[in-house]
Amino acid sequence: MNPRHFISLLDLSSEELRQIINRAIELKNKRDRDYQPLKGQILAMIFEKSSTRTRISFEAGMVHFGGSALFLSPRDTQLGRGEPLQDSAKVISSMVDCIMLRTNNHDTVTTFAQYSSVPVINGLTDQLHPCQLLADMQTFFEYRGDIKGKTVAWIGDGNNMCNSYIHAAMQLDFKLHIACPPDYLPQQSYIEAGGERIQFFDTALEAAKDSSLIVTDVWTSMGQEDEQAIRELAFRDYQIDSTIMNAAQTDALFMHCLPAHRGEEVTSEVIDGPQSVVFPEAENRLHAQKALLEFLLC
Ligand code: CP
Ligand code: NVA
Repeated sequence: MNPRHFISLLDLSSEELRQIINRAIELKNKRDRDYQPLKGQILAMIFEKSSTRTRISFEAGMVHFGGSALFLSPRDTQLGRGEPLQDSAKVISSMVDCIMLRTNNHDTVTTFAQYSSVPVINGLTDQLHPCQLLADMQTFFEYRGDIKGKTVAWIGDGNNMCNSYIHAAMQLDFKLHIACPPDYLPQQSYIEAGGERIQFFDTALEAAKDSSLIVTDVWTSMGQEDEQAIRELAFRDYQIDSTIMNAAQTDALFMHCLPAHRGEEVTSEVIDGPQSVVFPEAENRLHAQKALLEFLLC
């Protein structure tokens, strides 16, 4: 039987996604360290890019559940010396129970999944960051209840996080307002998939109106460091400040996947202010991924 993978939020049904979110909240509230459903199981974690939250949350989650995690970097394995992905996927999956990858190219994760005999989890690619969305949605459900029918504003880069927000809007039935500089829109295939649930705005202020959640991300993602100067110019009207927050619903939340750059995509006043839930959002990576691991492996 083919293993179940988590490459995108669309790999789950809407019901399964809601089930994982609710289970994450339950696991967080119970904090039962005696519950060890993954005793003896091993997660291999392949990181082509840096990480704080993703690495620690997966590793800690596996330990909480009685298992363990292996950190593998291309620099220290044959992956970095050109061993074919399909060979690596077959070999690694013959020795572990699950594989998480953070890669430069989305195709690396999909190829790995094609040849892996165990579940493959997308820990971020240039196109998607579905694990972050599990945590973001868990956080919204905790603070405000179900997100169905609400309006979320994505302001900033039409990047991997934005694409995953489009998927979340499709799966959980919320409206997504998007305000990106014209040259930084999400790829056409994601726009088409989002259909009527997504709406584009010329300014951050217009996108924020009626929103229950304002979300942004860095202007320069990992791998785009050479574009920093040009991006700072392109995104200068897309900073989340108190004017943007005041245009949203009065009880609107602010989220950011972190790491953040205060003074660039968000002011200190907002990210460190009362509407910001960025630290519970970060902690929820742990709980949401434990619920995901349980769903995929138990
Ligand atoms: N948000 C997120 O994925 O953080 P890391 O890059 O630290 O894993
Ligand atoms: N868009 C960012 C997210 C980091 C968690 C990046 O890809 O670098």
